[in-house]
Amino acid sequence: MTEKDFLPKHTEALPESGKVAWKAPSNIALVKYWGKKENQIPANPSISFTLDACATRTTLSFQKKETTSKFSFDLYLDGKPKADFKPKIEVFFDRIAEYVPFVKEYHFVIETSNSFPHSSGIASSASGMSALALCLMDLERHMQPNMDPSFFMRKASFLARLGSGSACRSLEGDLVVWGKHESIEGSSNLFGLKYPYKVHDNFKHYHDTILLVDKGEKQVSSTVGHNLMHGHPFAEERFKQAYHNLTSLQTILESGDLEEFVKVVESEALTLHAMMMSSNPYFILMKPNTLEIINKIWGFRKETGMPVCFTLDAGANVHVLYPESIKDSVIQFIQDELVAHCDNGHYICDRIGTGAKELIIPKK
Ligand code: PMV
Repeated sequence: MTEKDFLPKHTEALPESGKVAWKAPSNIALVKYWGKKENQIPANPSISFTLDACATRTTLSFQKKETTSKFSFDLYLDGKPKADFKPKIEVFFDRIAEYVPFVKEYHFVIETSNSFPHSSGIASSASGMSALALCLMDLERHMQPNMDPSFFMRKASFLARLGSGSACRSLEGDLVVWGKHESIEGSSNLFGLKYPYKVHDNFKHYHDTILLVDKGEKQVSSTVGHNLMHGHPFAEERFKQAYHNLTSLQTILESGDLEEFVKVVESEALTLHAMMMSSNPYFILMKPNTLEIINKIWGFRKETGMPVCFTLDAGANVHVLYPESIKDSVIQFIQDELVAHCDNGHYICDRIGTGAKELIIPKK
């Protein structure tokens, strides 16, 4: 598929007004996306677990307006106006207007809320952009009632990508690939693809306990970090490495080899942060407690032989990943040893999820 396949093909007239609502999950990458080309095209393919508990709920109300020259919307987070999110939505609308021109025809009210605390250091951009993209596609579906459900998801992912790259992996469960990879049929740089092959039962109910080490605002945004991969001395090797790690992970997902899984996933997390530390200018997003936790996980693994591992996103929080079979022991370990390193003892118990859901709007 190419960008052209996502241009509008409406058959019906635009509705005057209405309301749609979606809940979309967050995701955690196993092979990381870090570095992009123009138009939000990733420099390497990535794969993520879709999460379950961490999610954004968005309601989009729309009302036809007179003029179509500008975008018009009000934005609320947890019922309160959120002016500082508006520029990001404005940029998003600008990028997607070619594919969903009706965005200029309406005044929108966007009401959004996250299941995770606002200042938890967990990025809401993936689940937030995905939920909004799904709402917009729902509106497009009003004008094209015969739309194929797989096209609906694909175009929603395509739009979400233009809002925040990794958001395109936040629509379907339970593993999603984004970025062209020769051995994954149907993979694309333009949208996320539900991992199309058989996955070993070991990965079926994987857990992700998110340890909130630092709930503050990140010092360096992902946008800045991605841009620093341009001209980065290790960029080309890193992109190749991610590609090969995805190849290895394909074998691992099939065989259920948890020891190899741990190696790939932890190496990816540390390489992501190594890229940040070797950028120009360099920066560090890990905190002392991030390293304390990593060392304790390594100690626990050595002592017990249990395949628990960590991954990191672009921040100091630690995602502890483990299979269902060792859940009780790992939760005990987290409570006994790791919670002390969390900001106010805060952590979120999450697990692999099944993807976004349409929300039923109660009739008045
Ligand atoms: O989608 P962005 O631009 O916020 O970038 C996400 C980058 C990482 O979370 C660090 C990695 C990933 O693949 O999700």
